[in-house]
Amino acid sequence: MARLLLFGGKGGVGKTTTSTSTAVGLADSGLKVLLVSSDPAHSTSDSLGVQLGPEPTPVEGVEGLWGLELDPEARISDHIPKLTESLGPMLGGQDPELNASEMVLPGLDEAMAFDELLKHLENPDWDVIVFDTAPTGHTLRFLALPEIIEKWAEKIIRMHRLTGGIRALMFGAKEGEKMREELEKFRRRVLHVRRILCNPEVTRFTLVTIPEKMGVNETLRAYESLAEFNLPVSGCVINRMTPNLDNDFIQTRRINERKNVDQLRSELPDLHLHEVELKDSDIHGLDLLRSINSELHGEITISDGLGPFSIGLGLEVHRGTWSDGDDVMLHLPGIVREDLSLRSEAGVVYVGINSREHPVPFDRPAKASQVKAKLENDILKLTFPEE
Ligand SMILES: Nc1ncnc2c1ncn2[C@@H]1O[C@H](COP(=O)(O)OP(=O)(O)OP(=O)(O)O)[C@@H](O)[C@H]1O
Ligand SMILES: [Mg+2]
Repeated sequence: MARLLLFGGKGGVGKTTTSTSTAVGLADSGLKVLLVSSDPAHSTSDSLGVQLGPEPTPVEGVEGLWGLELDPEARISDHIPKLTESLGPMLGGQDPELNASEMVLPGLDEAMAFDELLKHLENPDWDVIVFDTAPTGHTLRFLALPEIIEKWAEKIIRMHRLTGGIRALMFGAKEGEKMREELEKFRRRVLHVRRILCNPEVTRFTLVTIPEKMGVNETLRAYESLAEFNLPVSGCVINRMTPNLDNDFIQTRRINERKNVDQLRSELPDLHLHEVELKDSDIHGLDLLRSINSELHGEITISDGLGPFSIGLGLEVHRGTWSDGDDVMLHLPGIVREDLSLRSEAGVVYVGINSREHPVPFDRPAKASQVKAKLENDILKLTFPEE
């Protein structure tokens, strides 16, 4: 499974610029990278100069980089028609104006976005997934969904017991059971998203800000709210630092900015701070993105060995998948045996991770029953039969 790098921060501070630059830099160093954006304004497409859609699209000019724009409309309709269907009669009747699921399940939208993200994260093809504009603060409330759903499920069961007659009118016993099953499935998926997001082996959150008092305060608040949810924040990019020019106005600005950066450093001493200077033009196109990447991370070098390697922002990355003779290795941090399944069809072996299947890259046809699987230290080793 890939590493997940999330970039968050307030509007216009440089999230798209820093996340896109990082994605370009990681791909340039030889990794397979998927850049995911949830921005309906298509600024990631603009930044890269490539039109992105809801499926991974190769980015011209950067080998190893694919981009994707989450479609906010498709999210709910694709994923939970059954859930809305089964909750609908209970919550809002047939009133089409009432979006019943949104009313009672706060943060459902974000949960869907992250579930979609997880689908790509579980795809062993990717080494790193970079997410432009992750939610912070109140939008993270979806992480509390499992508990809310649990309470809901209890209520539904109680209603079933108490309201025999009405129940029969509203929905039969079968429907009630179906509803509970859907809720349970959904609850498990959100729990899984939460496990992945809170696992520092998988996920790193980078806050992006500017060296102004307001930016620093907002960063401190965001850090607090992420810590409340146990999300691992590893670094902070301070973007748009005023460059050192011989001018009184500029020098006064620099003194003030330094004070603000020092305040952030003293309040969050464990955070890696990365400063990026304000440039004389917008950051568009690959050349400028690459120069921002070197300013951010320096040169990214990746050793060819099987162990993890370090990149900037205090990150260690494993390749998502690699092979050695008849063995294929998949890096699956945070995954337990129960989450995994193996199946084959027409000579292709599929590994199922939380019931989502991915073909295992191997050059000969094989059957799942002939493949030996071993999960150790977050690595699933699949040994294929000899030729
Ligand atoms: N260091 C910089 N020097 C010059 N221009 C910059 C710098 N960083 C970002 N910009 C420019 O500032 C604008 C806003 O940056 P960006 O789109 O990355 O912010 P954002 O946080 O993603 O914004 P939004 O919240 O709208 O998604 C862009 O036009 C970008 O090219
Ligand atoms: Mg943006």
